[in-house]
Formats: sequence, structure tokens, C-alpha cells
Amino acid sequence: MSSSRLAILISGRGSNMLAIANACRTGELHANVALVLSNRKDAGGLASAQSLGIPTAVVEHSAFESRDDFELSMTQHLERVNPDWILLAGFMRILGNTFVKRWQGQILNIHPSLLPLYPGLNTHARALEAGDREAGASVHVVTPELDAGPVIEQVRVPVLSNDTPDTLAQRVLSEEHGLYVKALKQCVNVAIP
Ligand code: GRF
Repeated sequence: MSSSRLAILISGRGSNMLAIANACRTGELHANVALVLSNRKDAGGLASAQSLGIPTAVVEHSAFESRDDFELSMTQHLERVNPDWILLAGFMRILGNTFVKRWQGQILNIHPSLLPLYPGLNTHARALEAGDREAGASVHVVTPELDAGPVIEQVRVPVLSNDTPDTLAQRVLSEEHGLYVKALKQCVNVAIP
């Protein structure tokens, strides 16, 4: 069975991207990362991907007049590698309907909250303000509505009494890596032993 082709979209350090790439390298995931695409040329994850020999591309949103043009350029890069799955991993742009429909059912996102709680930004600060005793992260299918698509997997992390948004974010992030790989196991082809 051929392995699934993944394209990973990032905007920053790319620790989730690296966790997925490592799971592909060790064979934990029967998949390969065909492209890491960033909307920022200064994204730290680009160098990490390159050091693993993963092809990278940069499509800077600021270089385009409209979101449609930006997303069309991303689609052109993606079509060259023909991914089975497009994984958002700290990709900090909201995707428009045209892009989401072009890749309908093939885009996953990791979001640092227990969705449907706290879609959007500043999830950890909002969880602390609400006095939540648990935080966490979700992997979900991307639909046109922000952070609202069907959830595939979640991980729960206890909130500590002295947590700040940063300490909570750090603890959640270290759980996100395993969560994304776990969710992907349900999606990518399973290797026949
Ligand atoms: C993660 O917390 C992810 O849930 C959110 O952005 C952060 C990205 O971190 N969408 P990294 O770039 O994968 O290290």
C-alpha cells in the first residue's frame, strides 16, 4: 500500500510539523511529508524541515492583493505535490471558502483548546480567565467556519493553580505533538505488517 502524502502548512517554529515528520521517519506513521509550506519566510520551521531534507516553499500572504490570490498560489504549490492530507500546524491565516472547498475533507488543523471551547486566538488566557480546571488541544477537520469542523481527537491537560497563559501553553504544546500523530493514524494508510 502506498504511503500517504502530507503537506504541512506552518507560520512559525513548527514543532508539530517536526513531530509529524519524525513519526513518518520512524515508520510510526505510514506517510511522508512531501512539502512544508509557510506564509512567512522567517518561520523557524522552514530550516528544521530543510535539515530533514523535506521540500519547502514560501508563499507570503503580504505579497498578494487578495486572500483569493494568496490561496490560489498556495493551491498551485500544493497541486505540484498532490497531497492526500494538508495539515495546518500553527498556520496563522484564516482560510477562505474557495481554498477549503478545493481541498474539502483533506485539511486538518490542530487547535490549542478543547473545542468547541475557545475557537480563535488566546485560548489559554481565555481558559484561565474562565477558571477552567482542564485545558487541552483538538485535531479537527477544517471546514469554512473557523475552528468548527468535526473533532477527530482531543487531549486533556489539567490546569494548575499557578498557571500563566505561557506555562499552560507549554504543557498543552508538549501534548499536541502526540495528539496530532495519534489523529493522523486514523487518516493515513495503515501499513500491512
Ligand atoms: C500550537 O499551539 C498549535 O495548536 C497552534 O499554534 C501552535 C503552533 O506551534 N495552532 P508549532 O509551530 O507547531 O510549534
